Amino acid sequence: MFSGIFKNLGMDLGTANTIIYAYDKGYIVNEPSVIAFKNGSNRGYKILCIGLEAKRMLGKTGREIKVIRPLADGVIADFVAGEALVKSFIRRANIPSFLLNRMVIGVPTGITSVERKAIIDSALAAGARKVYLVYEPMAAAIGVGMDVLGAHANMIVDIGGGTTDIAVINYGGIVVDNTLRLASDEMNEAIMRYMKNRYYLDIGELTAEKIKIEHGIAHEGCRRRRFKVSGIDQRTGLPREISVPNNFFLAAFSGIINAITNAIINTLDQLPPELAGDIVDRGLVLTGGGALLQGLDVYLRDRLNLPVTVAPNALFSVAEGTKKILESFDFYKQVLFK
Ligand SMILES: Nc1ncnc2c1ncn2[C@@H]1O[C@H](COP(=O)(O)OP(=O)(O)OP(=O)(O)O)[C@@H](O)[C@H]1O
Ligand SMILES: [Mg+2]
Repeated sequence: MFSGIFKNLGMDLGTANTIIYAYDKGYIVNEPSVIAFKNGSNRGYKILCIGLEAKRMLGKTGREIKVIRPLADGVIADFVAGEALVKSFIRRANIPSFLLNRMVIGVPTGITSVERKAIIDSALAAGARKVYLVYEPMAAAIGVGMDVLGAHANMIVDIGGGTTDIAVINYGGIVVDNTLRLASDEMNEAIMRYMKNRYYLDIGELTAEKIKIEHGIAHEGCRRRRFKVSGIDQRTGLPREISVPNNFFLAAFSGIINAITNAIINTLDQLPPELAGDIVDRGLVLTGGGALLQGLDVYLRDRLNLPVTVAPNALFSVAEGTKKILESFDFYKQVLFK
C-alpha cells in the first residue's frame, strides 16, 4: 500500500565522482568522491566537509586537516573514510532512512569480496533495505542504451578517474573483460611529472587536472596551441607562470594511452571468434570522464582500425544505467548480484 513513498537509489561510487539517482526524483548528488577531516583536540578526527567543498581543499591545507580520496584505487581503499563518505552522500540525498528501499550500486569488475562487503555494509548502515551490485561496465552499457540482453556483442570502455573497465557484453552477461587500475587521474600525475622534469615547475594536482580538461589532447592531429601554467619554480622556490605548447600532452600521456590501448587489444584477443563480426560492425563505445580527452577517439580508431564513438553523456553513463535498472527492475534483474 505504501510502496510509492519508498525511495530507490542508484549510485555510481566512482574513484573521482559519486553520482546518486533517486527513483522519481532525478539526480540528487553529483560530487567529487573526496572527504575532509579535521583533527579535533581529544576526540579524534571529525568530518569537516565532503564533495566539491573537500576537493577544493586538496593540496591547500595544513596539518590539522586531512583531505582523503577514499576510493582512489578503484574501490574502498580507506575503509573508514569510505564508509563515512558513502553515508554522508546518502544523507545528502535528504531521504529519511526509514523510507530507503532498494539500492543499486555500480562496482568495478575487479572488486574483491572484502571490498564488495565494505560497500554493501556502508549502504546498509546508511539505511538501505536491499542492496544490489552491478558491474560498472554493465551499468555503463545499459546507460548508453546498448541492448545488453540481446545476442549481439557490444564493447564498452569506461575510462574513469582511477580505473579503466573494458568489457564485451551480450545475453545479460560479460563475455570478456579487463580492468586496469590506470585511468584519467594518472594523467594528472603525468602532467605534474612532466612539468617538474621539463620545466622545473612544481604544480598542484588541481591545476594539473584543470589543464588536462581544458587543453589536453591525445592525437597529433589536434590543433596546436600554447597556454599558461603557474606553479613553484624548483630552482628559485618562487611562484612563476610559464607558457607551454599543448603537444607536450602527447609525450606526457603516451605511456598511459598505450597501456589502455594494449588492454583493449588484449581483451579483443580473448574474444570468441563468433563475436568478431559484431565488434567489427559496432566497434567500441568510450565512456567515463577520461573518454572526453580530445582526440582519444581518433587515436584509438587509428590504432584499432575499428569504429570508436564517445558516449554522449560520458560522465553519467554508469549512473544512467542504475537509473534504467531501477525503472525496469524485473527486466534487468538478471544483470545484478546481491
Ligand atoms: N573533458 C575532460 N577531458 C579529460 N578528462 C576529463 C574530462 N572531464 C573529466 N575528466 C576526467 O575524468 C575523470 C573522472 O571521470 P569519471 O567521473 O568517469 O570517473 P569515476 O567514475 O569517478 O572513476 P572510476 O570509474 O575510475 O571509479 C577525472 O580524472 C577527470 O579529470
Ligand atoms: Mg566510473
